[in-house]
Amino acid sequence: MKTRPKFIVVAGARPNFMKIAPIMASFGKNNITSGKVSVKLVHTGQHYDRKMSDDFFTDLEIQAPDINLAIGSGTHAEQTARVMMAFEQICLQEKPDWVVVVGDVNSTLACSVTARKLGVNVAHVEAGLRSRDMSMPEEINRLCTDAVSNLLFTTDELAGNNLRNEGVSDDRIDFVGNTMIDTLLRNLNKALSLPLPAGLRERGYAVVTLHRPSNVDSVETLRPLFHAIQKVAEQIPVVFPAHPRTQNSLQKFGLLKTGMDIRLIEPVSYLPFISLVSRACFVLTDSGGIQEETTVLKIPCLTMRNNTERPITCTLGTNILVGTDPERIVRTAFDVLNHGIGKSSIPPKWDGASGDRIVTALLACVGLSDSGIPRAVLAKKVATS
Ligand code: UD1
Repeated sequence: MKTRPKFIVVAGARPNFMKIAPIMASFGKNNITSGKVSVKLVHTGQHYDRKMSDDFFTDLEIQAPDINLAIGSGTHAEQTARVMMAFEQICLQEKPDWVVVVGDVNSTLACSVTARKLGVNVAHVEAGLRSRDMSMPEEINRLCTDAVSNLLFTTDELAGNNLRNEGVSDDRIDFVGNTMIDTLLRNLNKALSLPLPAGLRERGYAVVTLHRPSNVDSVETLRPLFHAIQKVAEQIPVVFPAHPRTQNSLQKFGLLKTGMDIRLIEPVSYLPFISLVSRACFVLTDSGGIQEETTVLKIPCLTMRNNTERPITCTLGTNILVGTDPERIVRTAFDVLNHGIGKSSIPPKWDGASGDRIVTALLACVGLSDSGIPRAVLAKKVATS
């Protein structure tokens, strides 16, 4: 007897959770009506703290993972290898037809390579982003994941062009928009109903996040960035929810002083974070996803990096690459504080329907979708690629 087509959706680290939420929700809707597919959620456990993981499942109403690999931290090789070994067993037991991976973390790379080597089809959500910076571990993860994936779901046309320039044929690329924005739009009202922390007023503070190894792992890079943030905090209240990696470095390098103006807090979960960002005057960050969220929220974003894999947030959105020179960071922050930024617009298909587009395409891949003939054609081609 033919069993139901099976999908495994993988999430591993904090930025993955908002990307899988709309896909799981859309599978839920479709599955309730059809009951014809099986969908399992695998959490690799790359992020494991309540504040880095569990709180996101609660805030985003994601079902508890069917399987948790509990991988935890380690060097890149250790973490990637442990996910690969554990996920290989899952694929052998579960025999999925498709594995769906999102983003660019070590779990994304590990699960895509493992599945493809076992002959399982792989779909990559957020494919084709390129920073052209091979010192970023995420860039290596993006390149390898895209190379082995059968189906590449992109967030914008530039990402599709990157893939085409690397020789990927059109029939493997599907421009679906941005699932992280689905999650933002779905949860914005809930986030806005939360009160602001005491002492902050609407548009009267800045939010900072910083966690890239290139920015926080050495005192030579972290100290000037932290001093720039301190200078900004002398002009406007600064709320800084610090990633565990950053907290460790600030402690280790002796940068935490009493009497600082910066409000350094523990990482916050999704709803309070979106609440903070959506009412801020501007955001200073080195994150990837926040560049996209601020573009949709129309909040100025100063990105403390020299490159971005999300250039559309600069050309259409509110993002400014300020690099890591402290003087430039402070100068730009004061400029934005006094004058704001010019007009911005929202990229095409960042409209809240990306998860549905992805699930429609995936169902077509197993012959179950009757909507959208082009996707059904695509699926046939993909299955034989
Ligand atoms: C990872 C991703 C990065 C993503 C970031 C978002 C990779 C290569 N990097 O980086 O793309 O932007 O997540 O947060 O996959 N730690 C905790 N608790 C946790 C998780 C981590 O204390 O729940 C600590 C670890 O012990 C480690 C540090 O944070 O010391 C870094 O964690 P790690 O998973 O190595 O990478 P991230 O910097 O979080």
